[in-house]
Amino acid sequence: GAPVDVELGSLRPGELRTVEWRGKPVFVLRRTPEMIDALARHDTLLADPQSRRSEQPDTARNALRSSRPDLAVIEAVCTHLGCVPTFRPTPGSPDIGAQWPGGFYCPCHGSKFDLAGRVFKNVPAPTNLTVPPHRFLSETVLLIG
Ligand code: FES
Repeated sequence: GAPVDVELGSLRPGELRTVEWRGKPVFVLRRTPEMIDALARHDTLLADPQSRRSEQPDTARNALRSSRPDLAVIEAVCTHLGCVPTFRPTPGSPDIGAQWPGGFYCPCHGSKFDLAGRVFKNVPAPTNLTVPPHRFLSETVLLIG
């Protein structure tokens, strides 16, 4: 599969775009400052907050799993059985739970991931979502692959 260019200039804070790379959907999310702050506050809910077991390139080996805090690039493939998680950014949720900090929710068997793709404890998915190889060619152009 060829690398894919993503133009980021029109992506607003809080907005998610789904692009395709190697036949897989990939989420590109521009996180707001509030989303970035919230990612530091729920480590105790997560199975692997430092992403020790999980797959990401070296440039994204940190809590935000990203080389740019505002931009998350995450494969939209649940690490349980491969469903596409839904984007549920609003904290607190009648169906997911009052503790929900905002993230990605898998409708197939209820796995939960935060806005860095980190998996919650006690869900079927065994690991964090995969961060694909990617880099920024400029302020507004992302290359995946
Ligand atoms: Fe996502 Fe099973 S495929 S929870």
